[in-house]
Amino acid sequence: MFVNCSHLRSQLLLAAGGLFLASTSFAPVHAQSLTNDQLDQVKARLAEGATHSWEIGTRAQALIESDTPSWSVLNSSSLPPSHSAPSSLDEVISIARSVVNNRTSSKINGPQPLMDANGGAAGDPPSIGVAVLLANWTGAGSQDNVDYAGAATDQLEYLLEKVPKTSDGAISHRSEQVALWSDFVYMVPPFLAYYGVLTQNQSLVQAAYDQCRLYRQYLVDDDAGGMWKHIAMGSTPDNGHWTTGNGWAAGGMLRVLGTIQHSQYSKSMKNQANDLRDWVVEIHNGIYPHQQTTGLFKNYADDSSTFEDASGTAILASTVYRLALLAGVHTHLPAAEKSRTALFAPASSSSSSSSSSSSSSSSSSSSSSSSSRSHFSSSTSTAPSSTSTAPSSSSTPSSPSTLAHFTSDMWLTPVVNPDSIGSQGSRSPEGQAFVVEMYAAYRDWVDAGSPGANAGVRARAAGGAVLLAFVCSVLLLFAA
Ligand SMILES: *[C@@H]1O[C@H](CO)[C@@H](O)[C@H](O)[C@H]1NC(C)=O
Ligand SMILES: *[C@@H]1O[C@H](CO)[C@@H](O)[C@H](O)[C@H]1NC(C)=O
Ligand SMILES: *[C@@H]1O[C@H](CO)[C@@H](O)[C@H](O)[C@H]1NC(C)=O
Ligand SMILES: *[C@@H]1O[C@H](CO)[C@@H](O)[C@H](O)[C@H]1NC(C)=O
Repeated sequence: MFVNCSHLRSQLLLAAGGLFLASTSFAPVHAQSLTNDQLDQVKARLAEGATHSWEIGTRAQALIESDTPSWSVLNSSSLPPSHSAPSSLDEVISIARSVVNNRTSSKINGPQPLMDANGGAAGDPPSIGVAVLLANWTGAGSQDNVDYAGAATDQLEYLLEKVPKTSDGAISHRSEQVALWSDFVYMVPPFLAYYGVLTQNQSLVQAAYDQCRLYRQYLVDDDAGGMWKHIAMGSTPDNGHWTTGNGWAAGGMLRVLGTIQHSQYSKSMKNQANDLRDWVVEIHNGIYPHQQTTGLFKNYADDSSTFEDASGTAILASTVYRLALLAGVHTHLPAAEKSRTALFAPASSSSSSSSSSSSSSSSSSSSSSSSSRSHFSSSTSTAPSSTSTAPSSSSTPSSPSTLAHFTSDMWLTPVVNPDSIGSQGSRSPEGQAFVVEMYAAYRDWVDAGSPGANAGVRARAAGGAVLLAFVCSVLLLFAA
């Protein structure tokens, strides 16, 4: 058989050109982002909406990441930070002040949570702990006479001494019984790790790692590719793969990883850091195959009967950018870019979302609709649903929004009801914080030169090159 070599060469060139064009068409879109004004509005809604302890703590974390990035444990700056706070931290310190002031007025002494844990969620108030530690560290107490160190220590001792544990040492998310919620991983281990780094107490940094390890051991679902279940044990176990819960777990482990990596323990705790990285990768590898064609995730990632949730989608995307920056893992960047561009897309886009007026009990509830965070179902807790911050009826008439996934006043939509996570809600303070975190993570990633932006493209191009080489050698074999 005769093969015209120059003909073959031009065929190959054409094929290579086609491959190049095909691969560039997959290149992620970078353009969509929020304007400063839109971001400010997202933060304003967050400030209005955050009243539960975990919302206040998550707000403080989001503000650190967005307004004072070099003070975030996710930044490459080394820890502990300087003792003098830049003014951009004022809002974070004032969050700590209002919480600790309130506590001081109650005149209780000794181990206790930083603030009332809605209906017994012992794991939620420690989410404010990093802000309180920062207030102490930067000497805010010498100006306002608030005992931040004492409040942080009481919270630590409450967790370590008063909250029930599993026999192997996992601290319960609930105070009245042992129950492990994925949410805990974002609220507690980052506080333990930061406390350990600031007070030079490595065993607390180790405890932060151990809590992540134990929670993973109880919640990871190998049958679901490594996604985490939501709740193990207790009276409301939830084996479903709650999207936001996977985001809480990945986000919390990344903060512990960042704390270790930038601290005085980075060398001695290298193995722990590697484990944390691997466990975040495990969650991403488990959940990203369930990303919808819209770029969003269902509320329970692998349950197509549940609604799409922009809130969990946003925290997951933020963890993908952060993992790229902290550990150089780029696998899911194109998917995170897809989520981000979908969430920041203009309203004219075809995938325009549902209106913001859906009531908090509107949607299909999944098996776990009983996982209510503000009132614990089996207890006679007095926490009334009226304490809920997620108003079920929107007071603002919806005027046309310029963004598909935000109301005109910049509430993210559609979102899971943060107080009853089996159903769709209308306003999610945590979702607002996740938008700020995704925004900050994306910004830092772009500032770093968008490492791995074309991860998926490169994989495809590499695959194409291998295929071309194969075709070429087969042709040459025939030619010989
Ligand atoms: C760290 O913070 C600085 C601002 O102080 C910012 O420019 C940089 O992008 C951040 N880096 C990372 C990796 O987050
Ligand atoms: C302050 O304490 C009161 C009484 O315990 C409580 O109702 C209120 O929600 C608290 N406020 C904050 C910001 O913690
Ligand atoms: C409070 O800050 C001081 C330094 O300003 C530090 O020595 C101390 O360990 C801190 N305490 C806690 C509980 O973080
Ligand atoms: C570290 O913290 C734990 C828990 O508060 C405490 O029991 C221990 O004594 C501390 N270790 C050092 C060296 O301060």
